[in-house]
Amino acid sequence: MISFSQRLQSLPGYPLAEIPSIKRRLIEAGVDVIDVGAGDNDTPPPAVAVESMSAALHNPALSKYGFQQGLPEFRQAAARWIERRFGHRFDPTTEILPLIGSKEGLSHLPLAVINPGDVAIVPEPGYQAYIGGALLSGAQPYVAPLRPENDFLLRLDRIPGDVLKRAKIAFLNYPNNPTAAVATSAYLEHVVATCRTHDILLAYDNAYCDLTFDDYRAPSIFDVAGARDVSLEFFSLSKSYSMTGWRLGFAAGRPELIGALTRVKSYVDTGPFLAVQKAGVAVLDHSEEIVAPIRAELERRRDAAVTALRSVGFAVESPKAAMYLWVPLPAGTPSAVFARHALEESGVVVLPGSGFGPAGEGFFRVALTVGAGRLRVAAERLGAALERLRRGPIATTA
Ligand SMILES: Cc1ncc(COP(=O)(O)O)c(C=O)c1O
Repeated sequence: MISFSQRLQSLPGYPLAEIPSIKRRLIEAGVDVIDVGAGDNDTPPPAVAVESMSAALHNPALSKYGFQQGLPEFRQAAARWIERRFGHRFDPTTEILPLIGSKEGLSHLPLAVINPGDVAIVPEPGYQAYIGGALLSGAQPYVAPLRPENDFLLRLDRIPGDVLKRAKIAFLNYPNNPTAAVATSAYLEHVVATCRTHDILLAYDNAYCDLTFDDYRAPSIFDVAGARDVSLEFFSLSKSYSMTGWRLGFAAGRPELIGALTRVKSYVDTGPFLAVQKAGVAVLDHSEEIVAPIRAELERRRDAAVTALRSVGFAVESPKAAMYLWVPLPAGTPSAVFARHALEESGVVVLPGSGFGPAGEGFFRVALTVGAGRLRVAAERLGAALERLRRGPIATTA
């Protein structure tokens, strides 16, 4: 018998792991399923990415191992983009690192700083790669709840001093998945100051920095003075450019921190496919024109979905950024029960808040990944699902 590690067994289970099989069964039965579960936009990848990748496939040099160095052109394009977007300069050779998607870098990072017994601070609800990476590195996770009364901000000032002393890494993500919350400069200044005081590595996940609405512009952690001492910032090409499957992202930070992550990665992977990095150059150099229509479409979808959900009784906030609505459920309606019912009885895939950790209970997440018309239909069906649950006896298990 193979026995599995305590680390493996410590990974939290996903409460609705059966969603894909239920969805397949419903589709086979002819149900018109609307999937607003995963954060995977329905818009195609940018034409410049496709063209650049097609050309790259004809260049045999780009079929070789990329190693951590990768394509120098990609590092340079990433550094150019950060400078255009945020006004910060990074040395492409020593301060930028290509990643096989930002998830890969975020989840490997704890291996660079954690010793047995060290603490990793993770937000909950939150992107599950943080707790996964922390547990796999042998860290003791300290789960910090994101609550509506704190605007879904991770309150480092509420964490006991002895925990902060043992903490080696903290994950932070604004604009946030799943809550769509954003962070103010004053808040980020406080976070950086706390991390500097306690020598905590701040893993700042800025995957949604360009998916912002109205006049809101998301900051970089490096806007905060002194952030370079303690922070690595993670960027993704997945969400802004509809390239989730291409697996490309990058980290930025000072050479010692980038070097530590590079060293970990050199033992577990060989970098993103060079042809994908070549496409990444084209995309980053055309970033502004590519992301503008995606942002405008998401804003239309946000407005349509918020209006429709409110009209059927959900008290949802209209977010300033990201591609999600974090929708509160009436007290006493377990989110996994609601999500299961919405799928089985109404053909709508949403993610239950509890899927992002117990502190996500009481909410469900709608991804703005289908057009406004479909979102309106989804909202109507979700309203009907809630009404049925309210009237009928509520099952208490998912
Ligand atoms: C907050 C957050 N960070 C990172 C990622 C991962 O992005 P990538 O595709 O670059 O690995 C996601 C994907 O859903 C996310 O929601």
